[in-house]
Amino acid sequence: MSANVSEIWAGDGTRLDIRLMRPEDVPAVAQIYNEAIARSESTNEFEPRTREQCGDWILTGDERFSGYVAERDDQVVGWGALTRLYPRAAYDATAELSVYVSAGQRRGGIGRALSAHIVDRARALDHHLLIAFVFAHPEWLVDAVRRRGFDHCGTLPEAGIWRATLRDVMMFALRLDGRPPEPAR
Ligand SMILES: CC(C)(COP(=O)(O)OP(=O)(O)OC[C@H]1O[C@@H](n2cnc3c(N)ncnc32)[C@H](O)[C@@H]1OP(=O)(O)O)[C@@H](O)C(=O)NCCC(=O)NCCS
Repeated sequence: MSANVSEIWAGDGTRLDIRLMRPEDVPAVAQIYNEAIARSESTNEFEPRTREQCGDWILTGDERFSGYVAERDDQVVGWGALTRLYPRAAYDATAELSVYVSAGQRRGGIGRALSAHIVDRARALDHHLLIAFVFAHPEWLVDAVRRRGFDHCGTLPEAGIWRATLRDVMMFALRLDGRPPEPAR
């Protein structure tokens, strides 16, 4: 099995494959993302994203900033990504981690498995810092992010809008073993 694929047995005994996202996954990825937008969950977006927008965002062609999908019975049931926090060279070893699971497939360990796989990949790809952004609610999500080893490192006051109200956005960081980028000479 390649380092990019992990085979996991979910709590209910079904097999889950986690692998690098491919162009043909984009429609399912966009559907799961748009489902989260429609449910006002974590995306900070109000309008659905097209498949093309999702593809351009996640399929960067750069292995260090890529998407991963979780597949069960040949169906994409969740996805996650390492995306650039900021498009500047000094942030090359920092990535934002996002994870989305299809609403009908939740609470079965898919999100946990995706996060674990992507954090392992980020470590292998020499990232130094992972960032996760979440609203202060739901509280269980904040707790789950902490249980993944992320530390709360700041709050962006009123940085997002949720259900028509300005909300604080909490920023979490996980330090990995990757080398920080070479300083400019
Ligand atoms: C967050 C999300 C990815 C979790 O996916 P999931 O497959 O349901 O998660 P899991 O079953 O692996 O559970 C992960 C952890 O969260 C907890 N959890 C998940 N859903 C929960 C809920 N509704 N209530 C309380 N705890 C919950 C689980 O108990 C588990 O805890 P652990 O730390 O003991 O492992 C999913 O709810 C989702 O896609 N939400 C919308 C997008 C989002 O908010 N993404 C995160 C920020 S980018």
